[in-house]
Amino acid sequence: MYTPSALFCIVLYLAPSISASPYYDKSGGPLAYNFYDKSCPNLFMIVRWGVWEALQNDTRIAASLLRLHFHDCFVDGCDGSVLLDDTNSFKGEKNAFPNRNSIRGFEVIDSIKADVEKSCPSAVSCADVLALAAREAIVLSGGPFWPVSFGRLDGLTASEKSANEQLPAPFEPLQNITAKFVAKGLDLKDMVVLSGAHTIGFAQCLTFKNRLFNFKGSGKPDPSLDSSMLSSLQTTCPNVDKSNSKLAPLDSQSMYRFDNTYYKNLMNKNGLLESDQALVLDPKTAAMVEDYSTDPFLFSKDFSASMVKLGNIGVLTGQGGEIRKKCRSVN
Ligand code: HEM
Ligand SMILES: *[C@@H]1O[C@H](CO)[C@@H](O)[C@H](O)[C@H]1NC(C)=O
Ligand SMILES: *[C@@H]1O[C@H](CO)[C@@H](O)[C@H](O)[C@H]1NC(C)=O
Repeated sequence: MYTPSALFCIVLYLAPSISASPYYDKSGGPLAYNFYDKSCPNLFMIVRWGVWEALQNDTRIAASLLRLHFHDCFVDGCDGSVLLDDTNSFKGEKNAFPNRNSIRGFEVIDSIKADVEKSCPSAVSCADVLALAAREAIVLSGGPFWPVSFGRLDGLTASEKSANEQLPAPFEPLQNITAKFVAKGLDLKDMVVLSGAHTIGFAQCLTFKNRLFNFKGSGKPDPSLDSSMLSSLQTTCPNVDKSNSKLAPLDSQSMYRFDNTYYKNLMNKNGLLESDQALVLDPKTAAMVEDYSTDPFLFSKDFSASMVKLGNIGVLTGQGGEIRKKCRSVN
């Protein structure tokens, strides 16, 4: 078990030098690393502390916060729309099929945002808080650092339909998932390396049960699933509906540690979701999986670069957005 406090110090020490590194400073876009230097100088400390505190209570929260940021960015851009509750005028993303009874971490974001408001009222958007919280969560889980730039505004609406259409499903063919990444300006490599996020966190039986008993109507399990993993999953997820919401770790070797074990698992037929294991079955992605399985530094470096791209998708600046006071509703 690593010590969070030791990591904490390393992060404080490294943060300024890494964020100044030209390696990450590509297009930059409309966002800026120093955006809150004057308007909210304590932002980093507040968010880091909030995530650390949440992790003391719930070891899964790091995974949940990363996924929340992914789902925010992937649906109509990183605009905090995933955080909005349904209203009379729109049905939001929270109850869309991939999110309902699945995404979590809202209370943690609410609580961090409340602390940020106390220190810097109406200065920092919810989308930026979420982007930073996801980064801190991964660093505290032993994963890589990536520089987060700021200035995203919060959107004024959210769409259940967009979430249903734009988020990838684990049952889709890899080609379809790839197309969804390409539609967001990401590429095949981003898809492979960001899937490495499944090195932490959990999935409900209903997301992979199709592989356990009757794969694609064959009456048999998925042949690309290791047999001892298969029997253990069949025990967790017996073939009855009431097991649907039970959980299995996406990376059973180290479910709370952000490392490259996910790719080692794939090499050993131990991927949990069909969409995970598909990455080694497709010749276009197999070599990348193999590289990441043997080179943890390559994985860290590429994951960081792709997280920067993810955090820049469809950001809202200027018109059409606001700095929400509370993340669950527009002002
Ligand atoms: C490539 C397409 C992807 C598909 C099909 C997919 C699908 C899923 C599914 C089905 C779950 C389990 C949800 C549940 O059972 O409630 C899950 C969990 C998760 N996903 Fe993905 N995902 C994908 C990409 C990503 C990306 C790009 C990230 C982040 C960069 C990510 C981060 C996570 C995390 C951290 C969890 C665990 C969440 C928790 O334990 O609360 N996923 N994903
Ligand atoms: C602690 O985590 C659990 C989920 O595991 C959550 O339901 C609860 O609200 C959290 N408590 C605090 C004080 O954050
Ligand atoms: C994959 O995409 C094709 C073309 O857009 C579509 O017709 C098909 O239904 C999709 N498959 C799944 C399983 O979503």
